[in-house]
Formats: sequence, C-alpha cells, structure tokens
Amino acid sequence: MSLSKKFVEITDVGMKFDTPKGSFTALRDIDLTIQQGEFITLIGHSGCGKSTLLNLIAGLTQPTSGHLICAGREISGPGPDRGVVFQNHSLLPWLTCYGNIYLAVERVFADRESKAQLKARTEAALALVGLTHATHKRPHEISGGMKQRVGIARALAMEPRVLLMDEPFGALDALTRAHLQDELLGIVAKTQSTVVMVTHDVDEAVLLSDRIVMLTNGPAATIGDILSVDLPRPRERLALAEDPAYHHLRSGVLEFLYQKEKRPAA
Ligand SMILES: Nc1ncnc2c1ncn2[C@@H]1O[C@H](COP(=O)(O)OP(=O)(O)OP(=O)(O)O)[C@@H](O)[C@H]1O
Ligand SMILES: [Mg+2]
Repeated sequence: MSLSKKFVEITDVGMKFDTPKGSFTALRDIDLTIQQGEFITLIGHSGCGKSTLLNLIAGLTQPTSGHLICAGREISGPGPDRGVVFQNHSLLPWLTCYGNIYLAVERVFADRESKAQLKARTEAALALVGLTHATHKRPHEISGGMKQRVGIARALAMEPRVLLMDEPFGALDALTRAHLQDELLGIVAKTQSTVVMVTHDVDEAVLLSDRIVMLTNGPAATIGDILSVDLPRPRERLALAEDPAYHHLRSGVLEFLYQKEKRPAA
C-alpha cells in the first residue's frame, strides 16, 4: 500500500438527531482517512452508530458537524461513486434479478452507453456473483443468500469507487455466509474497490479487513481504536484457523468489545 491515495476523508464528524426528548448525540469527533482500495470494517455494540456513520459516507444523511470528502469532493448526497448494500437487500419485488440490476446500471450508465452495453454489464454482474441461472427469477423465488448476492451484484454493477455495506451477511446461515465472504474477497481483489462494511462478526472482520475500526458505545460514540490486519492476501479461511497471528488479532477485537467497551445495559 505504499502508493496508497487518500480516498475518503472524514474529519471531525459529529451527528446529532432531534428527538422528542431533545437532541441526541449519536456520533462525535470521528476522524478517519480511508485509502483507495482499502477494506475497512466498522465494528461495535448494537446502537453505537455504525449505520449512522455508513449513511453519512453514503450521503443519505448530512453530519451536524465536520466534513466528509470522497475522491476530493464534499459528500453532499448519494452518488454513483458510492454503492450501498443494505442489510435487508431492498430489491424491488416486481422486478427479476436481471431487472433489479439493470435498473441500477441504467441509472449510472444510460447517458453514455448503448442498451447492448447495459445488458452486458447486467449479465456480467449476475455472473460475478454466480446467479446467471436466476436471471429471470423474482425476489420471492430465490433464497435469502441469493437475494443478498443480487444486492451485492447491483452495487458492484454500478462500478462504485466505494462499496458501502451494512451487515450484508448478517441474516445468513454460517455456510452461506462463509461462501459469500469468500466470493466478496475474490470480487474485491478483482475490482480493487474501496470497501466500508459494518459487521457484528469478529471473525468476518479479521478475515476481510485491512483495518478494523472499533467504535465505542453510544451515546456520543467515537472511534475507540483501529486495528491493522496485516495478514497476507489472498486469505484462506482454513489456513487462518491455524494461524497464531489471526488469533492474536481476533482476541484484540474481542478484548475491545467485551472488556474495554462492555455491552451497554439494554
Ligand atoms: N433518525 C434517527 N433519529 C434519532 N435517533 C437515531 C436516528 N438514527 C439513529 N439514531 C440513534 O443513534 C444511535 C446509533 O444508531 P445506529 O443505527 O447507527 O446504530 P448501529 O451501530 O448501526 O446499531 P445496530 O448494530 O443495532 O445496527 C442509536 O442510539 C439510535 O437510536
Ligand atoms: Mg446498524
């Protein structure tokens, strides 16, 4: 990463929400610079502000203080340079897998490319996540893991410079999850995308990340610590299971979550 470039710059960001009980400070003093091609995971207890931070980078909400910059420009709204994968995959139920992806592709590329090119992009995205066979199926006809893959394909097909994912594998069984993690590692290696991903899963964070950003408990959550994961790539989950360096990193995150930042009382 010696030639790395600053890509997302988050400076002194705070986020307050107006609530019926008055102002609620969700995030304070967030400073984070993400390099191009870096894989960042955000981890922290439920309710600490992970989705809030991801939404700020997505431009879906505006911070109440501080600045967010992506590729040299202030983030002032959602944009095709930032593809979002939502936790609930949010596919349009009346469109097929193909249709869901085509719609996004059309939005980004229609002014520059022919229909044949848009079709080729859509088909390539489906192939990338292994869903060519489900091209003409609608969301209710496919499994949860497949829907999640359509959501990932849709975000990737927009060729975003930053891929933002909010617990994309959260609701999946362990096997599907492992399979999709491996797929994602392969895709990101191929596309060199910058990724910010929210997760609750410590093993997932260590397996995927270049850096793990650990948030303190809210209210007024901030970055408590950042752990650099210097395990070489490509990473093999079976080999890692025997790697002392992997276990050391894993305990680092666990220690943060369960000793330094105890789970807040419900
Ligand atoms: N629109 C809003 N209005 C008021 N409060 C909000 C709003 N959005 C989030 N919050 C509050 O901000 C805090 C952070 O919420 P956020 O959804 O970012 O947490 P999270 O870390 O993503 O949690 P989880 O792991 O459960 O998804 C919570 O206390 C939440 O209640
Ligand atoms: Mg969340």
